[in-house]
Amino acid sequence: RTILLVGAPVDSGKRGAGCLMGPDAYRTARLPGALADLGHEVIDLGNVTPAATEAEPDAHLHALPETIGWTRALSGAAEAALARGTAIFLGGDHALSLGTVHGAAAHAASSGKPLFVLWLDAHSDFHTCKTTDSGNLHGTPLAYLTGRKGFPGFPSVPHPIPEEQVAIIGLRSVDGPERIALEASRIRRHDMRYIDEHGIAQPLTAFLDAVAAAGGHLHVSLDVDFLDPAVAPAVGTTVPGGATVREAHLAMELLYDSGLVTSMDLVELNPMLDERGRTAQLMVDLAASAFGRRVFDRPTPRIL
Ligand code: ARG
Ligand code: MN
Ligand code: MN
Ligand code: MN
Repeated sequence: RTILLVGAPVDSGKRGAGCLMGPDAYRTARLPGALADLGHEVIDLGNVTPAATEAEPDAHLHALPETIGWTRALSGAAEAALARGTAIFLGGDHALSLGTVHGAAAHAASSGKPLFVLWLDAHSDFHTCKTTDSGNLHGTPLAYLTGRKGFPGFPSVPHPIPEEQVAIIGLRSVDGPERIALEASRIRRHDMRYIDEHGIAQPLTAFLDAVAAAGGHLHVSLDVDFLDPAVAPAVGTTVPGGATVREAHLAMELLYDSGLVTSMDLVELNPMLDERGRTAQLMVDLAASAFGRRVFDRPTPRIL
């Protein structure tokens, strides 16, 4: 495959700087080499810069104009990259998905394919600008991308992702208004209890079957805090009880076997909070599993 790497050093989605160093941490941890070792043609497109915007600051929403500028720029960058191959977006905090998935939706629409979104995250990121208590816009992308109202000043969403084409896996921190909205939606949602009871392969395989049946494109958004903080400390929003290294690799291996992934975000890595680069390295190893690294070839058993 041709894999385009797109640096998205977004740091405006929350307080507490550091995610802007993420793209270079992934490069330093040899993400391009790891993908090339698997036989892919890897093209690093460098880092995107935010678009200029006339949006006014908002007292409640942290760095609103900057995030609107990033959304506009990353949507265009994503659509352009996807026209050339498979895209991996090197974050940057989760606000970057406001743009990358917006662009992926435009690409899918122009290809006549439905876009499915897999959100691997401790959080649901399903706030609107009206419901967010923290004012941190990294907590909003899934609401924006599914077409919920409440995003004044942001680019319009001509291709909202239908709720049944979204799955969130890894949930263990959901705010009150998010929970109410999620329960009223058709979004597929699996908390850590569900994974404890059924394993991670079952909900993921069911979702991948739906993507395959629809002939869809699949965007995967991998938040560092999907992982347990004991193995992935370099994130500002740690929540105990996350996915293990083995669960995360299995998820990535199943994604590779499906052949369905057209784009992926690696988000929320804050190298300032890392320990000798271990979180950056784990994220690179997970990305490698998602693009074909394996110990043995095998027909994957279907666990349904
Ligand atoms: N729900 C919380 C908030 O709105 C946390 C969001 C965390 N999001 C993330 N992308 N890490 O502030
Ligand atoms: Mn395509
Ligand atoms: Mn997130
Ligand atoms: Mn999160």
